[in-house]
Amino acid sequence: MTVSRLLVTCPLPDAVIDRAVKEFGATLSQDGTMGAQDVLSRLAEYPVEAVLLSSRTKMDAAAIAALPPAVKILATCSVGYDHVDVAAAALRGIAVTNTPEVLTDATADLTMMLILCACRRAAEYYAIMQAGWRHRHQLNEMLGVQVSGKTLGIFGMGRIGRAVAQRARGFAMKVVYTDVRRLPVELEQGAVYYPSLYAMLPHCDILTLHAPGGSLTDNVLDAKAIAQLPKGAVVVNAARGQLIDEEALIEALGSGHLAAAGLDVYRREPDFDLRLRDLKNVFLTPHMGSATQETRNAMGMRALDNVAAALGSRRPIDQVAPMAGSSQAAGP
Ligand code: DGY
Repeated sequence: MTVSRLLVTCPLPDAVIDRAVKEFGATLSQDGTMGAQDVLSRLAEYPVEAVLLSSRTKMDAAAIAALPPAVKILATCSVGYDHVDVAAAALRGIAVTNTPEVLTDATADLTMMLILCACRRAAEYYAIMQAGWRHRHQLNEMLGVQVSGKTLGIFGMGRIGRAVAQRARGFAMKVVYTDVRRLPVELEQGAVYYPSLYAMLPHCDILTLHAPGGSLTDNVLDAKAIAQLPKGAVVVNAARGQLIDEEALIEALGSGHLAAAGLDVYRREPDFDLRLRDLKNVFLTPHMGSATQETRNAMGMRALDNVAAALGSRRPIDQVAPMAGSSQAAGP
């Protein structure tokens, strides 16, 4: 029997699990995603050298301090790694890796879906069809926001932000962005840089967030920031729920300052604030930006490549540094 070198803490596509078992004799989560305490209990029983987790398992400093000495790597199957205290892991000599690049397109596609669905009132129209329609709407009823030709503001012009910009150009949108620093011109592809979020906000018909979570971006879109958006603007978030002050968002959606929002992420997941569901002008998805067969396979394989490197005493290609020192541009 192969000695188990890896604990897989969450369900993954079959091909990924097959490889994890064949290559590392993986011990698998039996019952959905494991919380940090389950991970620690399992490792106390069966110490292994590698843990493959998702963004649903929070490994804070206390959890990392309690990991057995055998653990060499925490490989998260996500591009975001704000759920892992990377500094605490570094102090213990444990590598932390993520899965960038492979989910860029799927997440950018989902962002466009949120933009289109929020602007064109997809939730309301879908509800009408589900109810059997039967009542013809007049030409002045249920009008949405046109996407084509509008100005899209992007907060965080990393890989995903740039992939959204590329798609937006196909909709003849003007793209403006802000990040900790301006991109080289060849990466900007005509997008206009603003040196701060506040400088950019008044110019955005639609604002989409693509910065990493963490203390630097917590509540970056609060009431004051939302007030800088033009009346009738639309807000989209497929990055991290912590970027938005949800109280302020709900208030602005209710008052009509914002026309609509498209959200894939929430401050609390999965038990998100149900007042968002109750607002007609919000289009919601359950944190599924990377949820395509192709992308989830690729993410799982990439996480296993990182595990293979660490267990082979090589530096994993996706080893990340602690958040505080990292820039937005280096994030998702
Ligand atoms: C990511 O990859 O960071 C996604 O948000 C899934 O957690």
